[in-house]
Amino acid sequence: MENTTENGIEKPSKPKKTVLIGITGGIAAYKVPMVARGLIALGMDVYAIMTKSATEFVTPTTLSSLTGHPVYTDLFEGNIASNNININHITLADKADLILIAPATANTIAKLAHGIADNLLTSTVLAATSPVLVCPSMNVNMYTNKLTQDNISMLESAGMYVLEPGEGELACGWKGKGRLPEPERIVLEARKIISTNDLSGIKILITSGPTLEDIDPVRFITNRSTGKMGQAITEAACLRGASVKVITGPVNVNYAPWAKVIEVRSANDMFNAVKEHLDWADVLIMAAAVADFVPSTYKKQKIKKLNSVTYKLELTSSTDILASIKDKKGKKIFVGFAAETNSLEKNAGKKLEAKALDLIVANKVGSKGSGFASDTNTGSIISPSGTVQRFKLMPKQRLANKILDLVAERLV
Ligand SMILES: Cc1cc2nc3c(=O)[nH]c(=O)nc-3n(C[C@H](O)[C@H](O)[C@H](O)COP(=O)(O)O)c2cc1C
Repeated sequence: MENTTENGIEKPSKPKKTVLIGITGGIAAYKVPMVARGLIALGMDVYAIMTKSATEFVTPTTLSSLTGHPVYTDLFEGNIASNNININHITLADKADLILIAPATANTIAKLAHGIADNLLTSTVLAATSPVLVCPSMNVNMYTNKLTQDNISMLESAGMYVLEPGEGELACGWKGKGRLPEPERIVLEARKIISTNDLSGIKILITSGPTLEDIDPVRFITNRSTGKMGQAITEAACLRGASVKVITGPVNVNYAPWAKVIEVRSANDMFNAVKEHLDWADVLIMAAAVADFVPSTYKKQKIKKLNSVTYKLELTSSTDILASIKDKKGKKIFVGFAAETNSLEKNAGKKLEAKALDLIVANKVGSKGSGFASDTNTGSIISPSGTVQRFKLMPKQRLANKILDLVAERLV
């Protein structure tokens, strides 16, 4: 169990982060209950403050049911009981680890930019010392209006975070910029702002996904990697403040929005991209499943179906990326992955030594819930000193953070 020590004594669990969601009177307010749910699912304590206009779009009952707290709407409500003075905008501001305003109307943005504190939300923001994330959402002409743009710039100069709205069909019938980003995107941004930032200033190059090796214009060979592990490491590293470049083979996953994504196809493309970006990096994490063998020749014309029952395809070993860049390692941290079906630790240990890695993650493939395409993983992390950390089945996201913890230890 997470919160239990080896001798079974319960550890105090980490204090919950408190997020105040400020909801204002925009049509996209209907998306905000999903933002609240997303934050709560991550173990955060969520309170909602609604402007009077916001209550026209979504009910306080919805938000109080989801958050388990009363919803605050009025600056003066329930303030002063005898001998028990509770000034809502100060108590709320003091408890916040983050204030997230979504949707943020043009009106509220204008008020915040000018320090106006005429309702509970604007007063709370002015009294807060926590970070503030503003998510503008409005009609495209309201958004591009010079006054709104100047006000947004003022919020940024005052140190607030502003999440750019998306483009597309708007509820008002116009097309353009002004859509509130999807709840998952807002939750991700909130997580980044309140994360530990222990990898801030560190540059991490990650390889991810499979490679595709063309046989002819129609056919190719590949492997079962989906990029989920590389995606989890990319997201975790970004959330912890690292600058991340991810070199990826063809995948169907979305990488964290802060990462620079470099798309490649073949093992050779991946090798070239690693060589090109390696100088930039402090850390290299090779989570891609690079083809070990590639077709010896590429046929420019489609190979015709023959009368014979068999067709022999000749394969040649691809360039071993880690072995080829070994002499460029210097003080960089190199982390490799070994996907094995058998003799997991023995085979991974050999690879660690041969390639002078700082860590190798030995991945069990071919068992349920582990390896390719799965959201979970199991295996071991081995270091050159011979230390082996075996990890039981866990979400790839959690394994990503374990790997980054070990990287962080080696950076100091
Ligand atoms: C149907 C309707 C939809 C609206 N949608 C938005 C919107 O998406 N964004 C916005 O900035 N204002 C929108 N407004 C205007 C705001 O509700 C109005 O400016 C209000 O004063 C905002 O108050 P508040 O910032 O205190 O919540 C809308 C108004 C109506 C009637």
